[in-house]
Amino acid sequence: MIGVSPGADDAGGPVFSIIDNCEDTTAEALSALHSAAFSVLGQEGWRAGAIAETVNGSGGFAVLAHKGAELAGFALVRSVADEAELITIAAAPAMQRTGIAQGLLAYTIEYLRQQAVQRFFLEVRADNMPAITLYKRDGFAQVGVRESYYKVAGMRRVDALLFSKALN
Ligand SMILES: CC(C)(COP(=O)(O)OP(=O)(O)OC[C@H]1O[C@@H](n2cnc3c(N)ncnc32)[C@H](O)[C@@H]1OP(=O)(O)O)[C@@H](O)C(=O)NCCC(=O)NCCS
Repeated sequence: MIGVSPGADDAGGPVFSIIDNCEDTTAEALSALHSAAFSVLGQEGWRAGAIAETVNGSGGFAVLAHKGAELAGFALVRSVADEAELITIAAAPAMQRTGIAQGLLAYTIEYLRQQAVQRFFLEVRADNMPAITLYKRDGFAQVGVRESYYKVAGMRRVDALLFSKALN
């Protein structure tokens, strides 16, 4: 673990931590949450092996949110030199709209600023309004589009929107 939010969750709010080394049991738990969250979008979640590979790989880390003992959400991030990419973010379905993703983003950005990262990028499906609303509200701005990037089962292809946010 390379970071944990100060203070316990006295008020019942989420506690955030950062890992850059992912054990099998953690990867399985993250994969289960990811699948549950992404099934709503008709997308498969990431397998545990792919999650562990990303976290353990160069520049990779995961930001975890726990409510008590329960995993409430997580973000996967890769950071290279002074840029970072939000690879994926998900909140447990039962805990959505309680500020988990917003807290994950805030905690991640605070950590990236400490690492002198200048710009934070992400990519989102053009029809994912909850995520787009979250990112815009957090100050991300659209910087590009990859047309017909996502192929979604039973649907025509959907654009990917590229967003970024300056951290300095
Ligand atoms: C997108 C996602 C991560 C948001 O997580 P969350 O913890 O529910 O989000 P928060 O509670 O922190 O919401 C923060 C703000 O984002 C926006 N938002 C989040 N979910 C929303 C929704 N379903 N509809 C509209 N706005 C939404 C709102 O502005 C919200 O603030 P508010 O609740 O005060 O109105 C979650 O819906 C999820 O896991 N979705 C499936 C996976 C996914 O799409 N990941 C992103 C891929 S790029």
